Amino acid sequence: MIPDPALSPVPAPLLTVRDLRVVIGGRHILHGVDLAVAATGTTALLGRNGAGKTTTVRGILGLVPRTGSVLLAGEETVRLATHALARRGIGYAPEDRGVFAALTVAENLRLAERPEGGEPAYDLVHELFPELRRRARQAAGTLSGGQQQMLAIARTLLNGNRLIIADEPTKGLAPKVVTEVARALERAAEAVPVLLVEQNLAVVRHLARHCVVLADGRTAHQGPALDLLADAEAARRLLGVGRGDPARTGPPLPTTARPAAPTPEADA
Ligand SMILES: Nc1ncnc2c1ncn2[C@@H]1O[C@H](COP(=O)(O)OP(=O)(O)O)[C@@H](O)[C@H]1O
Ligand SMILES: [Mg+2]
Repeated sequence: MIPDPALSPVPAPLLTVRDLRVVIGGRHILHGVDLAVAATGTTALLGRNGAGKTTTVRGILGLVPRTGSVLLAGEETVRLATHALARRGIGYAPEDRGVFAALTVAENLRLAERPEGGEPAYDLVHELFPELRRRARQAAGTLSGGQQQMLAIARTLLNGNRLIIADEPTKGLAPKVVTEVARALERAAEAVPVLLVEQNLAVVRHLARHCVVLADGRTAHQGPALDLLADAEAARRLLGVGRGDPARTGPPLPTTARPAAPTPEADA
């Protein structure tokens, strides 16, 4: 299926997936996923549990056998091995975070360095995640869930990647920590485009310009994220959320903690 160009982000997407199919153990899991990841900012990959989001990400990364087309900046990558995709600049923060629990924060980062990524971008990582610098000697397994997620994202920023794929980075985190991780992602996406698998629609609303929705292993919708979130019927049909589900449809995330504008009284 050729995606409708009217629905594709402009200008040219960084990553274009067409008719991605995945069969595992004889079971057809993806039946034709089409998606485009914008060259800047955050593109959200949405869909109910079991829709095929993680399998799509794993297909893009060559972690499962796949057919179709995966163009990265115009280059066909669908026959490349995972290590070759990593070398071409796709960074991956997996669903389970994949940090080495027994190693320190600094050791986890050092293991993520890649010679072809150029000088590792510790300045960027420490600017975005000052807490990781403070906790450099702490075992990653003793970090909070949010801190582990920051570490997983930080690893993808070390190597001058062209694209970061984060699979449900806010899953299972307390609301305050969700806000922290969302802020970190927002700043990461200023440096590198992000494909964000996300169930928390408040986070999607805050971060994503475009969204792709999967249903039953296929693309069911692509378009501006805010349009989908504003359409209660479509959100209910595609995502299974609606009125009475505030945790998912979300109040807006608090904006960055800027001090309130001083009132004349306060100044006096
Ligand atoms: N390795 C696998 N073997 C068999 N079935 C799988 C495998 N991985 C995923 N699936 C199935 O494929 C479907 C999509 O899974 P997944 O991509 O993890 O969905 P999502 O990330 O959207 O929740 C689910 O029904 C899941 O059970
Ligand atoms: Mg998943």
